[in-house]
Amino acid sequence: MKLIVEKNYDCISKIAAELIANEIRKNPNVVLGLATGSTPIGTYKELIRMHKEEGLDFSNVRSFNLDEYLGLEGNNPNSYRFFMNENLFNHINIDINNTFVPDGKASEPREYCKLYDKKIEDAGGIDIQILGLGENGHIAFNEPDDSLSIGTSIVDLTEETIKVNSRFFDSPEEVPKKAITMGIGSILKARKIILLANGERKAEAIRNILKCERISTQNPASFILLHHDVTIIVDEEAYSKSK
Ligand code: F6R
Repeated sequence: MKLIVEKNYDCISKIAAELIANEIRKNPNVVLGLATGSTPIGTYKELIRMHKEEGLDFSNVRSFNLDEYLGLEGNNPNSYRFFMNENLFNHINIDINNTFVPDGKASEPREYCKLYDKKIEDAGGIDIQILGLGENGHIAFNEPDDSLSIGTSIVDLTEETIKVNSRFFDSPEEVPKKAITMGIGSILKARKIILLANGERKAEAIRNILKCERISTQNPASFILLHHDVTIIVDEEAYSKSK
């Protein structure tokens, strides 16, 4: 595991974007694994800048997103498809048909989960996976539990996650209670993993990874420690409880 501690959010965003851009330059057909939430917004802004000012070319890039709320259409402003279009895809030259976000309105969600993993496999697997980190240690929507799914699955969101994510909705009641999420196994299959965290509210979850001696399904993020190529990029605030 490689750890990078940087001064602030801007710095971690620039480093993450540079790592992604390097993968794209090395392999224009790269398969990206993408996350939503507030953490990667700065990284996406920097990638957009690189596309506009430096000609970073996404025309052959494919992408798979980690998760989506169950029941939300892609045109719902709270859906992760909408988020990705707004915060990245609409501003770069990626072919939108090569961008995959789990379909929150899939008619057979359980079957759909299997198809999603198959789609990733058929694309050759994810080359570089970006992860944010839940305050409770979740990655994607793999919430702390007695067991965790290996593949993409339907999960119940915890009360805590619903509360934390309600900041994007008009009220907590509007937050969907279920989501489709890539599983821990789907995530660990990526060739490279980059986990990003910033701010004091992530400090405990980061400490629970960096000081972890036993992986646990109650700390889903601890599983990334089993991966052979993982880089954790944090700002000083997120690192503050790990010193
Ligand atoms: C989103 C995702 C989630 C977030 C996590 C942190 O696709 O997979 O695990 O990364 O909830 O969210 P933010 O970045 O909003 O703090």
